[in-house]
Amino acid sequence: MNSTVVTGISELTTNDEELGTLTGAALVFEGERVAWVGAAERAPQADHRVDLGGRAVLPGWVDSHTHLVFAGDRTAEFAARMAGEPYRAGGIAETVRATRAADDERLAANLRAHVAEAAAQGTTSLETKTGYGLTVEDELRAARIASIEAEEVTYLGAHLVPPDRDADDYLDLVCGPMLDTVAPYVSWCDVFCERGAFDAERSRRVLLAARERGLGLRVHGNQLEPGPGVALAVELGAASVDHCTHLTAEDVDALAGSDTVATLLPACDLSTRQPLPPARELLDAGAKVALATNCNPGSSYTSSMAFCVATAVLQLRMTVSEAVYAATRAGARALGRDRGEGALGVLRPGARADVHALDAPAASWLAYRPGVPLTHRVWKAGRRVDR
Ligand code: NIG
Repeated sequence: MNSTVVTGISELTTNDEELGTLTGAALVFEGERVAWVGAAERAPQADHRVDLGGRAVLPGWVDSHTHLVFAGDRTAEFAARMAGEPYRAGGIAETVRATRAADDERLAANLRAHVAEAAAQGTTSLETKTGYGLTVEDELRAARIASIEAEEVTYLGAHLVPPDRDADDYLDLVCGPMLDTVAPYVSWCDVFCERGAFDAERSRRVLLAARERGLGLRVHGNQLEPGPGVALAVELGAASVDHCTHLTAEDVDALAGSDTVATLLPACDLSTRQPLPPARELLDAGAKVALATNCNPGSSYTSSMAFCVATAVLQLRMTVSEAVYAATRAGARALGRDRGEGALGVLRPGARADVHALDAPAASWLAYRPGVPLTHRVWKAGRRVDR
């Protein structure tokens, strides 16, 4: 099998409990997997050698929350928001209209372009969702297209009740024929549990139906105001509850006492002019915290995990190590991909060779030089994806 030794690593963030962060390190990958990690002077021979000349290396970003099967943009809505209009999730309906009107090739090309844009910035795995179709045919189309381009696919038929539908009829569809139709293409089910979208009882029904079909659970919760999303996610053992912008002390305690990952989406909070999530309280209480972009044309149109990391450090008061871990291994955990052979978000023998070399001597530069493009080279499963 083809092997590559990467040397000249000034600082290697492995995210492995035993290996920790190494200085003067080297890394070997063989085929798709990491084969060896250690001190540069003990590095074994390999077929190819890459000298990074004193750059920092970390696992590729794991972006565990995006909505990338869409058409159109919402530039005017964004401009109005920056001029003082509040964010209304009702804008989702505009993207639904544009998405339904686009043909398959246009949707697939848009998704591919965003995945490539993210890869060029160090994202080596990405989850994406349906949710801008909201008919059986359009949700199926979104799930099928997403399953070709994205690492993990989530069914979000319960994003919004389409304006022309009765809420109970639509819920029956989401929990019945729509779920049955998309299930072969997805591994997760999500629900937007928020006032104006799906209340706790309706959200529970969607999630229980999905669990019955063998799907993993995720929840959009507590985005625009305090609400039942976090409690529901913890009650049902969801892998992750995403947004977590408006949390009560009970929500923080519930997350700290559970395995549910709190996935924070700070770029969304900035773009919708919401408060920032209580990352410090969550971490100090012992909750598992991930960071993701929530890339979508309405509430958070960025694919930059580096921006999320810089924001988390500078504004959420996370340390650089906490933020990098949250954007890599904790994201992998939120997707159930952080352990075993081929694990994501970690650099140790057996893990997938998803490697992000920075044009910087240390990972702290992600926050020290915010807004500066610092990606030098990216390998996904041992293959370069940054060009
Ligand atoms: O995560 N909250 C619901 N869904 C998306 C919003 C999508 C949109 O506004 O188009 C979110 O922010």
